[in-house]
Formats: sequence, structure tokens, C-alpha cells
Amino acid sequence: MTAQFPTATQSILVLGAGELGLPVLRNLARLAKQRPGSKVSVLLRQATLDSQEPGKKKEMDELRALGVALVAGDLVKDSIDNLAAVFARFDTVIGCAGMVAGRETPMKLARAALQSGVKRYFPWQFGVDFEAIGRGSPQDLFDAQLDVRELLRAQDRTEWVIISTGMFTSFLFEPVFGVVDLEMDRVNALGSLDTCVTLTTPDDIGKLTAEIVFFEPRFRNEILYLAGDTLAYGEVASLLERVLKRPFETDVWPVADLLEEMAKETDEHAKHIKKYRAVFAQGRGVAWPKEATFNARQGIAVTSAEQWTRGHLAEEQRHY
Ligand SMILES: NC(=O)c1ccc[n+]([C@@H]2O[C@H](COP(=O)([O-])OP(=O)(O)OC[C@H]3O[C@@H](n4cnc5c(N)ncnc54)[C@H](OP(=O)(O)O)[C@@H]3O)[C@@H](O)[C@H]2O)c1
Repeated sequence: MTAQFPTATQSILVLGAGELGLPVLRNLARLAKQRPGSKVSVLLRQATLDSQEPGKKKEMDELRALGVALVAGDLVKDSIDNLAAVFARFDTVIGCAGMVAGRETPMKLARAALQSGVKRYFPWQFGVDFEAIGRGSPQDLFDAQLDVRELLRAQDRTEWVIISTGMFTSFLFEPVFGVVDLEMDRVNALGSLDTCVTLTTPDDIGKLTAEIVFFEPRFRNEILYLAGDTLAYGEVASLLERVLKRPFETDVWPVADLLEEMAKETDEHAKHIKKYRAVFAQGRGVAWPKEATFNARQGIAVTSAEQWTRGHLAEEQRHY
């Protein structure tokens, strides 16, 4: 049944057009142009499609100019039946709405995808290796992602592809994450100076996801790994020294301390960040060698942490 699925031309629906969805859409639209008969659409809330807010309006205009069809829907408010009816009009559905749409949403969307009979589903799992991390980790949201994997594996009607990307590169440098402290010129290593993290930029994820979607022979029921870079926290300090041309101190935040801080935290948002710190500090399932990635195997150039830092932080520092 699935052997009839033509990867060369596809009707693709992307859910969401945020930090990840936009680059995915831009790259899918580019590749679809080279494949007559392919069509790219995006599902967004009606209020977003109609927004007069200049930033949103500009994004909607960009998507229209790229030939992306705009489809109204609400991933939280619409029922599984309604979403399934929308998904059924497409061959391929790609989740790019993140966890922003709520903890229950990944499972709801996966159920809608299976019910719709869509040929291939890419769940929103652009992150770490949830299986290597395992159930019951400090970041309880990850258990919801494992539930989705179990659901997808337990059937053979809809093919699925999961794209593991590690952390979005910029997140490592976000002040709220606390690892890179540009004011104190310090790197706070999660776990140890040798603990590694894999990073990929959303632009590279967009480029590589589009390649994966149209890749032949097509990927099915498979987890693919990407990596812009894989490096240890100690190396983050040395790259900052090279790029910003000033010394950086390092401090180590041990796993036990991070778990204790996480347990004590009462503010929901702060706790969320502390869960991420603890799970990354444990160092399991959060980093993989670049050599085995899809981008390395295909010889596709990606942005290293040092290149990203030169392009973003070195520029910002000049403007101080
Ligand atoms: N590996 C990682 O490090 C990783 C991976 C994924 C995500 N993240 C984190 O997740 C965030 C950004 O990633 P993202 O691109 O997934 O999220 P995002 O930038 O917040 O985008 C979410 C998209 O989904 C749409 N959306 C939200 N609720 C919706 C609903 N009920 N119905 C339909 N559409 C809805 C949003 O539309 P509106 O414009 O209407 O809100 C937006 O287009 C960042 O904070 C990032 O750091 C990290």
C-alpha cells in the first residue's frame, strides 16, 4: 500500500510557522519548485492568518509569495476528528508547532495523523534522543514524546520519520539558560567540562528537513540525526575566547546540585529551564558524533557553534 507513495511530488502540510516552522517552510517551498506537482501548505490559527501585527503580516506575506497555501486550524481547540479531516488532504504532515501548543498536543496530533491516513508523519520531535534519555528523566515532557513514538511504532499504516537535532544552537547562548554568561565572562558547564551537547540552528534544520522529506529512496519509520556541532562545555569557553577575544572562566554545575535546585523551584517557568539544565547535565542522549549524521553522510554544510558565535555574538558585542 505504502509503496505507491511518490516522494518526488508531495502535498505537504506543516503545522506552525515559528522559529522552526518558518525555515522548514522556506526550504520546502524552494525544493517543491524543482518538483512540479508538489505543494506546500501551512496550518495556523485563523487569528494568525488575519493578524495585522506588522511582524506577523510580513511573515504571512512571505509565505504567500513563496507559494505556500495557508490553512486555518487550531491544534489545541480543534478536535482530533477535525484535525484528521484537514490532514487527510495531504500526503505528508510535519509538526513544527513545538510544545507551545501544550503538553497534551504531541499525542493529540499523532492520533489525528494516524486517523487521517496521511502517508507519512514527522512528529514535532526536533530535539534530543528521548530513548537514550529514557522515561522518568528530569524533563517530564520527554515522556510525552516517548508515548508518541510508541504509538507510531505500534502501527504500519502511516510511515513516520523523526529528526533528532539536539538543542537549537541559539538556546545554548540564551541568558535564561544560564550556561553562557556574557556579563561575567563565564561558562557554567552542565555536569562537567567534558559533558557534550549537540547543537543545530533552525535554518540548518529547515534545510536538512526539506532534503529528508524529498530524499529518495524515502525514509520511513526511521530516526535521523542531524548535528551542526557536537562539543563539550569546556570547548564552548575556548571558542568564546577565540571569537570574543577575551578570557572566559569556567564553573561546573554538578548534576546533583541541578537536581536539587530543580526540585526546590516553585516558579513554573524557572522550573522548566532547570529541568532542561538537569537533563543536559546528565549527558545521556543529548549529544552524538557529527560523522554519523544525515548532514555529514550527504556532505551538506551546516553552521558550527563557532560560526554561529561569529555571526551573532561577535556582531552584538561590537554594538555595545
Ligand atoms: N531542540 C531544541 O532546542 C528545541 C526544539 C524545538 C523547540 N525548541 C524551543 O521551542 C521554541 C520555538 O520552537 P518552535 O518553532 O517549535 O515554536 P514557536 O516559534 O513558538 O512556533 C510555534 C508555531 O506554532 C503555532 N501555534 C501555536 N499554537 C498553535 C495552535 N493552537 N494552533 C495552530 N498553531 C499554533 C504558532 O503560531 P502563532 O504565531 O499563532 O503563535 C507558531 O507558528 C523555542 O523556544 C525553542 O527554543 C527547542
